[in-house]
Amino acid sequence: MYFHNEGFLVHGVDNNQRATFFGPQGDTRWRQQQLVDNLKNFRHHELDIRYRAGILDLVKELRPNCIIHTAAQPSHDRAAAIPFDDFDTNAVGTLNLLEAARQFCPETPFIHMSTNKVYGDLPNTIRLQELETRWDFADPAYVNGIPETFSIDQSKHSLFGASKVAADVMVQEYGRYFNMPTCCLRGGCLTGPNHSGVELHGFLSYLVKCNLEGREYIIYGYKGKQVRDNIHSEDVASFIHAFYQVPRCGEVYNIGGGQANSCSILEAFGLVEEFSGLKQVYRYIDQNRIGDHICYYSDLTKMKSHYPGWNITKSLRQTINEIVKAWQSKINAHVSKV
Ligand SMILES: NC(=O)c1ccc[n+]([C@@H]2O[C@H](COP(=O)([O-])OP(=O)(O)OC[C@H]3O[C@@H](n4cnc5c(N)ncnc54)[C@H](O)[C@@H]3O)[C@@H](O)[C@H]2O)c1
Repeated sequence: MYFHNEGFLVHGVDNNQRATFFGPQGDTRWRQQQLVDNLKNFRHHELDIRYRAGILDLVKELRPNCIIHTAAQPSHDRAAAIPFDDFDTNAVGTLNLLEAARQFCPETPFIHMSTNKVYGDLPNTIRLQELETRWDFADPAYVNGIPETFSIDQSKHSLFGASKVAADVMVQEYGRYFNMPTCCLRGGCLTGPNHSGVELHGFLSYLVKCNLEGREYIIYGYKGKQVRDNIHSEDVASFIHAFYQVPRCGEVYNIGGGQANSCSILEAFGLVEEFSGLKQVYRYIDQNRIGDHICYYSDLTKMKSHYPGWNITKSLRQTINEIVKAWQSKINAHVSKV
């Protein structure tokens, strides 16, 4: 949507694999259909990024002037059950796209959505303080959050984190070895009104959906005080646009809402309740997800110094409000259909 509104002809590649990964709740066809119906310069390509010949052919035919790679198996919990699908999608799919770019459009900026899970569970070794509703960093070195210099080595990543490390390093390598304008954006929580949140992925979107449907949300460990930084998809898109306009080779940026747009699960409950007027139903299980971060927020210093014209424009409150409104209208539309 963002790039279409900026005047680009946008080609979307998606095979709705999210519905295979997560079932009907993860289905993204509704959004694809909206884009096809409403945007005159949007073309959908029903293609699996694991299908190497198909990706090579498409990139050869289009020779795009920007490649934004967001297709993934995005859940660390899900990856353990489907290791081949996870690695083939995240690592091999990324290689297919990189190699297609190298062969047919090596000058094209290539932006890859990586993840903060490349840091594994190492952020959990930082000294923390427990506050009333959240954990926070107690070590002054991390007052602005986790920087890109943080080690991605020798920690527990989940199979998802490991397949994303493979992709991340490969994207960097195509930048450094072949001098291609590539970058990895290591995301915190990326979200917005069009996210198809499910329990295993899309924390805020799923939490809001549970709130509105009166469904039980399960908190796994850390007293519900685990912290995530949340960024609206439009702010992610505007950063990608800034990179596209002034690309660099083999760069890495942490991208998220930063400290200002961070919240714990308990704090998210409070904010969502404020906008929906509904009490959050939840259950606490005193067992954290394997390798789950206790506190994570992105240090945005590097991206802001390389791209001083870019900044976050949507506060956490605005983002949550938009997600609440979007789910309300989807739920109402569904109710009026049945
Ligand atoms: N949302 C987040 O909080 C978050 C955080 C960190 C990193 N990321 C990364 O950002 C990217 C986008 O995340 P998202 O939240 O939009 O995920 P998403 O699952 O909502 O979107 C990914 C899309 O890729 C498609 N896809 C999956 N496998 C495919 C394949 N083999 N071929 C073609 N299409 C395929 C899915 O159908 C889905 O529509 C991913 O790389 C993810 O790892 C997301």
